[in-house]
Amino acid sequence: MWCSVVFLVLISITIGATKNIVCYYDSRAANYVSATFPKNISSTSCTHYVYDGVGVTAQGDIRILSNYDTASGFDEFQNIRRTKNVKLYVLLSSDRDGGKNLTNAIAGRSEKLVNSVAIFLEQYNFDGVEIDRRNIDFDKSALARFVNRLRSRLYMINKQLSVSVSAQFADAYDITSLSLYADMINLHAYNFTTNTANTVANLAPLFSSTPNNVISVNSTVTSWLAAGARRNKVNLVVATFGRTYVLASEDQRAVGARSTGPGEAGFNTKRPGLIARYEFCNIAGEYNSASDSVTATTYYFKGKSWIGIETEDTLVQKFTYVLDSSLGGVAIFTLDLDDTSNACGNGAYRVSDLAYQYFGSE
Ligand SMILES: *[C@@H]1O[C@H](CO)[C@@H](O)[C@H](O)[C@H]1NC(C)=O
Ligand SMILES: *[C@@H]1O[C@H](CO)[C@@H](O)[C@H](O)[C@H]1NC(C)=O
Ligand SMILES: *[C@@H]1O[C@H](CO)[C@@H](O)[C@H](O)[C@H]1NC(C)=O
Ligand SMILES: *[C@@H]1O[C@H](CO)[C@@H](O)[C@H](O)[C@H]1NC(C)=O
Repeated sequence: MWCSVVFLVLISITIGATKNIVCYYDSRAANYVSATFPKNISSTSCTHYVYDGVGVTAQGDIRILSNYDTASGFDEFQNIRRTKNVKLYVLLSSDRDGGKNLTNAIAGRSEKLVNSVAIFLEQYNFDGVEIDRRNIDFDKSALARFVNRLRSRLYMINKQLSVSVSAQFADAYDITSLSLYADMINLHAYNFTTNTANTVANLAPLFSSTPNNVISVNSTVTSWLAAGARRNKVNLVVATFGRTYVLASEDQRAVGARSTGPGEAGFNTKRPGLIARYEFCNIAGEYNSASDSVTATTYYFKGKSWIGIETEDTLVQKFTYVLDSSLGGVAIFTLDLDDTSNACGNGAYRVSDLAYQYFGSE
């Protein structure tokens, strides 16, 4: 008798220990010169995959962003489903138009949008939808009402719901409602400074260094939890890419030094200010680095070029933090910006692989 009780307790501990590993795929990567397709990422071991993404119209219809998505992207993405437990989401993206259409549709056409989402998920066989609200240009109570309505509708068709949020603007969200109605909250805890800031900044300091520099992964996670977010619904999002800058002066390169703007675009991703992990590893040998143990960060520099990016060490410290804080898990933004080609020499898709080594349970 006591034996089976012990057994049950063990089972629930094992289940309780399972963490989410949510992996984003940005379908723009299918159009890079050296492209990454859904089939390339099928070797990874994530628990959830998010297809980034589709847009909406201000009238509340789903808007396909690229012919690739309907021609083969959505279909190929379905083949990632190794087991029934892997969940496939689609992202209702704000990234490509600043989120204005989504904001307007949520505020004015929410009934229509709820319906469009439900139909879309069934049509393309996704298990869930993620509402991208990383911009903060919206009415928080309209978002809370929308998430509540969408939740009720998705219950009827057995689909899931997550929300992606920007960590540094806790005040912009009705955290209690999001936590109640969403299955997951993906907390994008990086880029704590805007793209127009004229100083260099670490991509995602785990801890705050001085009272003047209060924004960190820890300070933002702490404020979300204090505002009522349920720990087991919160996934800490880590960035695979680096953020790049041009220094104003070669000799002034400490965090907070003046920058004249974003670094040169990467050879494959072609977006100023951003460098994919595989792009970084191609040039990392030419750079010097400086690490800081208080903030758990490393930056790289060469002449006037400055790069803030996660190392395996800083990633593992964040994963440990996720365990220590009993969060739901991690999310990886994005797989196509990770080391897709083993340029760093530690295996392809190293960030998701590290997460799997850390959290995976099989
Ligand atoms: C993706 O797979 C194709 C083959 O299907 C390959 O040619 C391509 O190099 C792969 N992409 C990357 C980034 O490894
Ligand atoms: C916003 O919605 C309008 C129609 O309401 C559409 O024409 C436009 O392409 C949408 N913009 C984006 C960036 O999705
Ligand atoms: C994490 O943040 C909380 C709240 O700001 C703070 O009390 C705590 O000291 C921080 N932890 C570390 C190690 O900095
Ligand atoms: C984060 O920074 C990168 C690099 O500058 C930029 O491309 C990206 O749009 C930023 N993302 C967000 C959510 O601010």
